[in-house]
Amino acid sequence: MTLGRMIAGIAAAWLLVATTVGCNREKQGDASKDQLVVGFSQVGAESSWRTAETKSIKDEAAKRGVQLKFSDAQGDPAKQVAAIRSFVTQGVDSIVLAPKEETGWEDVLREAKQAKIPVVLVDRGVSVDDDSLYVTLIAADFVEEGRLAAEWLAKKMNGKAAIVELKGTTGSSPANDRNRGFVEELKKHPDMKIVVSQTADFERTKGKEVMESVIRSGVTFDAVYAHNDDMALGAIGALKESGRRPGQDVILISIDGVRGAFEAMVAGELNATVECNPLLGPMLFDTIEKLKRGESVPKFIEVPSPIYEQSKAAELIHSRAY
Ligand code: AHR
Repeated sequence: MTLGRMIAGIAAAWLLVATTVGCNREKQGDASKDQLVVGFSQVGAESSWRTAETKSIKDEAAKRGVQLKFSDAQGDPAKQVAAIRSFVTQGVDSIVLAPKEETGWEDVLREAKQAKIPVVLVDRGVSVDDDSLYVTLIAADFVEEGRLAAEWLAKKMNGKAAIVELKGTTGSSPANDRNRGFVEELKKHPDMKIVVSQTADFERTKGKEVMESVIRSGVTFDAVYAHNDDMALGAIGALKESGRRPGQDVILISIDGVRGAFEAMVAGELNATVECNPLLGPMLFDTIEKLKRGESVPKFIEVPSPIYEQSKAAELIHSRAY
């Protein structure tokens, strides 16, 4: 199919949806005739990044007068599936999904499609055979984030390091892709070795626990790559308690760019962070509104991922929005 036809197809699909929505609105009863009603299924609140993402989406909905039906799955994908089904039953205009894991969405997304409700994925991708089951994904390129982290670390360590990798939630797209990008880039540096690779579920407490067990195991390492800042912050606590100086004896790089990471860089305890911006609210509702007007949107809307080093942290920390 040509790009033009694909775009026209998406626009036509939305117009059909808009007509259906007009009928559904009668059923909802709690929204004014022209008010947009959006269901948002959020994974949970495992990290400060995710709390910032939730706030951004809620704030932007309120600012634009969108009625947002918010569901926090508390880390349980089954609750996300149930939330989507409930949004379908309620006949919302659009569904926003931040999926915990990549797989397991086919059936419920098909139900949304059959009900002619467009699904916009935010921050994490899904793995489905039929990619018409969602309209677009708004996210960072996680493979590129992992690649950037490896490139930075190889330079910092002069091409030789024993690395502990703290991985995100097993089965999630950021954990899969940040590992993939990192490992691919490391192939260029044969003396950069991952000596431990373990999940800490994107959580600060688990980052600390995993690092404590790595230290207890006696394995030798001089670098840490964490798939998010919160796990790196937990690891920093464990390193300090063991008498090591994070940022000096052990070089650390992580991903997200949250305020806590900038504070740790200012304190000299974290060496760098790759930004993964969680403030997706404005972009998300711009996209939903565009679709509603029948305009085309790309299948992937990329959020840029710049890298920030310790040397710039003091200068930048006050301008950080999350
Ligand atoms: O999907 C994005 C990731 O999920 C963030 O990097 C992490 O902090 C969050 O929990």
